[in-house]
Amino acid sequence: MELKTKYLGLELKHPVVASPSPISRKFDGIRKLEDNGAAAIVLFSLFEEQIRFENESYAYFDHISSNTFAESLSFFLKMEEFSAGPSDYLELIRKANESVSVPIIASLNAMSPEGWDEYAREIEQAGAKALELNAYYIPDFGQSSQEVEQRYIDMVKMVRKAVKIPIAVKLCPYFSSVGDMASRLTYAGANGLVLFNRLYQPDFDLDQLEVVPSIELSQPYEIRLALLWIANLYGHVNCSLAGTTGVHCGKDVAKYVLAGADIAMVTSSLLKNGVHHLSTIVREFTEWSEERGYKSVDQMRGLMSKKHVIDPSAFDRANYVKVLQSFMPKHDLQYSHGRWDPDAGL
Ligand SMILES: Cc1cc2nc3c(=O)[nH]c(=O)nc-3n(C[C@H](O)[C@H](O)[C@H](O)COP(=O)(O)O)c2cc1C
Repeated sequence: MELKTKYLGLELKHPVVASPSPISRKFDGIRKLEDNGAAAIVLFSLFEEQIRFENESYAYFDHISSNTFAESLSFFLKMEEFSAGPSDYLELIRKANESVSVPIIASLNAMSPEGWDEYAREIEQAGAKALELNAYYIPDFGQSSQEVEQRYIDMVKMVRKAVKIPIAVKLCPYFSSVGDMASRLTYAGANGLVLFNRLYQPDFDLDQLEVVPSIELSQPYEIRLALLWIANLYGHVNCSLAGTTGVHCGKDVAKYVLAGADIAMVTSSLLKNGVHHLSTIVREFTEWSEERGYKSVDQMRGLMSKKHVIDPSAFDRANYVKVLQSFMPKHDLQYSHGRWDPDAGL
């Protein structure tokens, strides 16, 4: 079977790519990802705060975003707590680019539109083959949806102006209209969309009355949100699509490709099972696809997308009604005369 796929204009040997994670923080981890067959490697994110720390330019930042950023610094890690500063990050790109045969994609996380372009340029010069913009941003109360959306668009336009390498945007799923946002980002210059960024939701410690940061590895069922949107977007946006979240085995890669993704990204299952699991995922995907007679990834792509549905809204609505109506509760409702009686037993 022909496993090759194209992502952001890069020729990849197959569709399984390592997403940003602690594994790529060290060169050894990058090497391991390559040895275990990653088709491309997206490095962990460089955060705008790290750049500002290094540049000692808080005053400048104060002036563009009042106290918000200064305040965020007080919650933030100290520079020495980061595993790598901006110059280490650039050095890692250089080294990886020289020593590893698969494409290295850098990842930048900034919160101000102004934070993106300078480092985007340096990342390009360091040899990254593409840049992923990790747009992790929780809007302030009172900000309108238009303002929030414009922030994303401005960020893409600014980086597009700054670099020639392809840009992907790692999106969050909470836009009123993901489809419209996807088109506008593409129009602004994004070459690819990565669906979706997982917003890390803190928990509460009820004894200490403290907010507890927590990060959970994904579960396989979490693939569904991105799957739904990739299936919706396929054929409607003029850019590459990457599925991130919930890839734990080869069948999950098949799901993303059938929905319309060019690649499927993986982190949690490697953190859980070890980096060697990446080669298992590639093998399982290949075997599954060959057993079903597929000749290439290109042939599979988008077969289960909404492009093949005549009236997608009616299809969604019908499925929604069907799934709610067909749910069989295990308790509380009484089963009589061949049906569940919703009025009895509650
Ligand atoms: C420990 C950890 C660190 C991560 N670091 C980053 C990061 O630096 N930048 C980023 O864009 N995503 C980061 N992610 C998100 C992953 O790249 C990925 O998008 C997410 O975990 C969903 O994919 P998965 O289901 O394969 O884990 C991180 C995830 C984990 C679990």
